[in-house]
Amino acid sequence: MTVRSSFVVVANRLPVDQVNTPEGKQWRRSPGGLVTALHPVLAEHQGTWVGWAGGVGAAPEPFELEGIRLHPVPLSSEELERYYEGQSNATIWPLYHDAVETPAFKRRWREAYRVVNARFAEAAAEVAAEGATVWVQDYQLQLVPAMLRELRPDLRIGFFLHIPFPPIELFMQMPLRAEILRGLLGADLVGFQQRLAAQNFVRLARHLLGLRYEGQTIEVDGRRVKSGAFPISIDVAEMERMANDPMVQARAKQIRAELGDPKTVILGVDRLDYTKGIELRLKAFRELLADGKLTVPDAVMVQVATPSRERVEHYQALRVKVEREVGRINGEFGRVGVPAVHYLHQSYSRSELAALYCAADVMMVTPLRDGMNLVAKEYVAARADHGGALVLSEFAGAATELRQAFLCNPHDPDGVKDALLRAVHVDEGEARRRMRIMQRHLRTHDVGHWARSFLNELGVPETEAA
Ligand code: ADP
Ligand code: G6P
Repeated sequence: MTVRSSFVVVANRLPVDQVNTPEGKQWRRSPGGLVTALHPVLAEHQGTWVGWAGGVGAAPEPFELEGIRLHPVPLSSEELERYYEGQSNATIWPLYHDAVETPAFKRRWREAYRVVNARFAEAAAEVAAEGATVWVQDYQLQLVPAMLRELRPDLRIGFFLHIPFPPIELFMQMPLRAEILRGLLGADLVGFQQRLAAQNFVRLARHLLGLRYEGQTIEVDGRRVKSGAFPISIDVAEMERMANDPMVQARAKQIRAELGDPKTVILGVDRLDYTKGIELRLKAFRELLADGKLTVPDAVMVQVATPSRERVEHYQALRVKVEREVGRINGEFGRVGVPAVHYLHQSYSRSELAALYCAADVMMVTPLRDGMNLVAKEYVAARADHGGALVLSEFAGAATELRQAFLCNPHDPDGVKDALLRAVHVDEGEARRRMRIMQRHLRTHDVGHWARSFLNELGVPETEAA
């Protein structure tokens, strides 16, 4: 018998990984702010998380882990290709990120997107108790709110988009545009990272469907759909704790020693994604070396790039481009045993990431477009010593909050070089002042604050959202 929950999260991925242990394969909670933020709410309400467990074919049976019920949704290999790699990550992802790569539109991808969204909506309808709150996450599931409302008009439905929401002119390219907009309007509250994105949304509702809006509230079919900005954040306390851990501190020292104790360690940490501006960051570093403004081994760069969406064409092309640029820089400026760029196409543990953050004098976060960018916030939270400097793209959502970073326009190579040099040469007092202000902001705006603000606006009572 299906257990019904009064609080349900629906996301493309379940917040778990399967790991090999001596007792066989076991599920482990995956690290990440979203699950940390929602865990207390889920645990308190015997909540359920509906999502894909990875892999293809039959899904595992629903199971419980650390007080959360997990309800896996299956994907066939064809759906993985069409719904996940195709419509989600080769159509919507590039389109919503300013079309920095050309979106591809395919009818069979759209059809798979519809089918899979309906499956997620049905799963949510099955596990939600009468009058429950259901919180749908991100661009892979934009049709779910309306589909779910159709099945279960009794539910309170929230939707949060973790990536940017594009201006009308771009959104209008999408063949599925009206259906997606109606899908989102099935929610009671649609949340975005930025105020501008919420404005794009309400204007689009008027432009495309002729709906009336007042402030951020849209009237549709006699219902009122609210929208607004809820900038997501990280588990600040956890990052501070980790960065203060003597083991992590020791590891940070060791990393610097392994890099040859350079004066300046410049760090980039991203999924290997074309929105992240990894190439332009490498190019800025190369040009500064060529100009003689930076020299190896005084300055070295570490670029960690997590493998991501590896079967999607643009991602394959990006990998080739990044690896070529790294090879070029090391060929021109490296020496035996002293590369200029240390490139790591790997995933790391949270504590290793914290050690890298602590070891880095300058963190480069230079996306061409990013909904938020949590890496920027993690770096700031990790620097309890008030050391380090953050170079941050104006096109990352995080730039709205982290105003004391060295902000730059990633489309302007000279601007990026200038911001990097200013960060490298900033005097210690000034660097500490900037870091302290950003940390103060993050402490009061952590991921718990994000979840509470959204749920309060959705009408989930404060005590329940605690
Ligand atoms: P996105 O969600 O687009 O990947 P964010 O910067 O918002 O970008 O979030 C990325 C998350 O993934 C951060 O929490 C970051 O710590 C984590 N991460 C990034 N690179 C790695 C890596 N190589 N190993 C482990 N975690 C990583
Ligand atoms: C971004 C998206 C998430 C997604 C994550 C990892 O943060 O907003 O929805 O889960 O990237 O991407 P993946 O395709 O591996 O799930």
